[in-house]
Amino acid sequence: MADRVPSIRLNSGYDMPMLGLGTYNSFRPNEVGDAVKAAIQMGYRQIDTAWIYQTEQEIGVAIKELIKEGKIKREELFIVTKIWGHCHEPDQVEPACRKSLEALDMDYVDLYLIHFPVAYVDKERTKPTMTDYLDTWRAMEKLVDKGLVRSIGVSNFNAQQLDRILKMDGLKYKPANNQVEITPYLAQDDLLQFSLKNGISTTGYGPFGAPGQVYIPKDAPKFLEHPTIVDIGKKYGKSSAQVILRWGIQRGYALVPKSTNPSRLAQNMDIFDFELSKEDMKAMLALDKGYRVNHEQFLPWKDHPFYPFEK
Ligand code: A2P
Repeated sequence: MADRVPSIRLNSGYDMPMLGLGTYNSFRPNEVGDAVKAAIQMGYRQIDTAWIYQTEQEIGVAIKELIKEGKIKREELFIVTKIWGHCHEPDQVEPACRKSLEALDMDYVDLYLIHFPVAYVDKERTKPTMTDYLDTWRAMEKLVDKGLVRSIGVSNFNAQQLDRILKMDGLKYKPANNQVEITPYLAQDDLLQFSLKNGISTTGYGPFGAPGQVYIPKDAPKFLEHPTIVDIGKKYGKSSAQVILRWGIQRGYALVPKSTNPSRLAQNMDIFDFELSKEDMKAMLALDKGYRVNHEQFLPWKDHPFYPFEK
């Protein structure tokens, strides 16, 4: 099944599978490890984590077990993790990366992302600092040269911030990827087009609106129950979740839906045997309202010059 998942060729020359497993949020012990094992055995090759998710260690153990059992090789996997905002000072970047590698018990990660453009004094984000993400970026480039990471990128950056990196003095490596929220209510078309034009791949997180933490206006239907999406799904014999993922694949970005449930993991992988028509793609795009699910948690820093979103 794995060879059915298309890849995006990154500007670093490496290929990133377009479907990955998201592993944010709190989990019961072994929950994420079990999900990773189930996912890899059904063909997932990209696993998305972050230092702040606290799932790196369990993911590392699960992958090691699969490797030991001969079910997968490290080089067949694409592992993504992210540096948190309390480690943006250039001299903290390599130690932070090494901590993640140690937790994952890996020699390298495939993609290392700056999690958010704003830096903080501490991991609880009690207070932002003025550390410039351009300085963090220079330190990220050194990780590539040291072989600790294969590709580097960012997350939650807007187009102006990407452009600022692209235009920085002495840029050695362009961002290979920007991981941002993309949902039917937040299509992010301008950002996607800007990134495509500049050779930066995009990954969409939270494709289903992370049910449970949805801040969309109360009268707006949840994505998975949206009548337009349900009706499109009926035409193809697919669920709303599958329509949302397929819409993303056809728009050219990677997706990292989270699930710990084996049947939903399988369902989310089963999106490569149908194609949405032009009309259905348009109908999906017409649902865009600019509503951001992951908004309120970031609002305390809305006056910071590096705050990436509309206020
Ligand atoms: P579960 O882990 O029980 O499958 P997002 O990736 O947008 O953050 O959404 C993750 C949430 O969506 C999780 O609560 C997950 O629950 C649920 N989910 C994942 N896949 C599906 C699916 N195919 N259908 C319905 N809900 C899903």
